[in-house]
Amino acid sequence: MKTVSLLAALAMFAFSMTASAAADADAATKAMKDNGCTKCHSVDKAKKGPAFKKVAADMKGKADAEAKLTTFLTTGPMVKMEDGTQEEHKALKDPAVVKNLVQFILAQ
Ligand code: HEC
Repeated sequence: MKTVSLLAALAMFAFSMTASAAADADAATKAMKDNGCTKCHSVDKAKKGPAFKKVAADMKGKADAEAKLTTFLTTGPMVKMEDGTQEEHKALKDPAVVKNLVQFILAQ
């Protein structure tokens, strides 16, 4: 049931964003689900990977934030999991999906 409540939270969140955000939150939410991002990330809670709110906070004010995250999400760099093991981060191919996800993440 954990997945269901997470999706509900994401859906509610997406709904609250639609008025102001440039990113398409519905598409971002769907892309994250389709690509398994939600196994390791959520908007406001750290899982295996950092919460997107934290990523956005860390990137705040950085001119190259969008470029950095785009590179991160397309090149599959090695990342450290919470338990200390390393694995290649999930890499995405579709530039439109990546752009929307990056904008969505930075808007948190
Ligand atoms: C197997 C777990 C896992 C999956 C699946 C995963 N991530 Fe991550 N992600 C991580 C970890 C761990 C980090 C932390 C990397 C670090 O700090 O070294 C991370 C970091 C990030 C960051 C921050 C990069 C930065 O420079 O601060 C973003 C953005 C991100 N992931 C987005 C995504 C998206 C989008 C997806 C789906 C396409 C995804 N992740 C799938 C584990 C995962």
